[in-house]
Amino acid sequence: KMSSEPVNVNDFKELARLKLPKMYYDFYAGGAEDEHTLRENIQAFCRIMIRPRVLVDVSQIDMSTTILGHRISAPILVAPTAGHKLAFHEGELATARAAAAAKTIMILSYSSTCSIEEVASSCNAVRFFQLYIFKRRDISALLVQRAERFGYKAIVLTADTPRLGRREADIKNKMIAPPMKNLEGLMSIDVNSDQGSKLETYANETLDASLSWEVCPISCSDSFYFYFLSSLGIIFYHPQDIMWLRSTTSLPILIKGILTHEDATKAVEGGVDGIIVSNHGARQLDFAPATISVLEEVVHAVKGKIPVLLDGGVRRGTDVFKALALGAQAVLIGRPVLFGLAAKGEGGVRTVLEMLKNELEISMALSGCPCIKDITRSHVRTQHDKLP
Ligand code: FNR
Repeated sequence: KMSSEPVNVNDFKELARLKLPKMYYDFYAGGAEDEHTLRENIQAFCRIMIRPRVLVDVSQIDMSTTILGHRISAPILVAPTAGHKLAFHEGELATARAAAAAKTIMILSYSSTCSIEEVASSCNAVRFFQLYIFKRRDISALLVQRAERFGYKAIVLTADTPRLGRREADIKNKMIAPPMKNLEGLMSIDVNSDQGSKLETYANETLDASLSWEVCPISCSDSFYFYFLSSLGIIFYHPQDIMWLRSTTSLPILIKGILTHEDATKAVEGGVDGIIVSNHGARQLDFAPATISVLEEVVHAVKGKIPVLLDGGVRRGTDVFKALALGAQAVLIGRPVLFGLAAKGEGGVRTVLEMLKNELEISMALSGCPCIKDITRSHVRTQHDKLP
């Protein structure tokens, strides 16, 4: 039994475990298959050392920064995660208010248990909207338009989920999909399957696994006109998928789920407005690399043309510091927000964000970095660096 108050975000994990039904705790905490990547996301941070500089004036620390033109109090955003009502009855409304109190950005998951409109009307945090592209393109386009109309400032396209990863805890628990408020009245899927988790069935029925960087010939092979026109040498093309998304909105588009320089280059060429280096909190492909271990590869490929953000395993202010030193503009926090929400509702999320901000502040003070821009590559040493 833990009687004392939590002093760091890891303490919230245990509080959440005590509070939540096992099925929900496992859904939040778990990763794909053997959870190798889940452990690596944390451990890879531990292999990076900080090179503190002393005798720098750190009497004033300024953690504020700007993401896509939005001023925030610290480079720590709320990652899009599904189903906040499973943690706390107010769901995403509580999370959004905590993000507003922390003066940071909340990224609302498409699979939220409060709607785009409800979250918009209950708080004045800067909000981004996370999207998957459905087989039913019209539904994705509709969600984007609702987000834009209700004041969300960017679309985050999650690219690492053509299908749902194998989360074995969810399979064993027969985890059911949390009610997806945004899809109410738009899509009805029969999830009465005994194969795997209901979540997996749901995702695989709805998500468009054909999404790609490529321009593809149209696939209406059953169409008479298609044969007729192609026999005349006229070929139709789907607009490239990212361009299609671009055509539905004037909002900036971030791609979440990039882990290689190859894809980073394609994202820049594709004209997106930002990249989130992410392995989906180790819930998709086990043995995908720890995000912090591939951050620099992505940053080098992007060459400063667009912002690069990172999520996965950020649990300490020093983790935020390391990510910034390796070239990220900001980080996103997934599970700690859910654990804070489960343990103590809105106040728990506020505390989680405050703890990380306080830890970042002291890390900056103790390493001689009064401002975010003062955190440079020379402030960390990775395993691949030679001793200077
Ligand atoms: C997620 N994540 C996620 N990502 C996304 O783009 N859309 C989503 O709906 C969800 N849902 C979701 C649910 C749960 C329970 C978790 C834990 C994660 C991934 C999330 O945005 C982020 O990439 C990771 O959570 C970051 O890793 P940490 O901070 O949890 O280690």
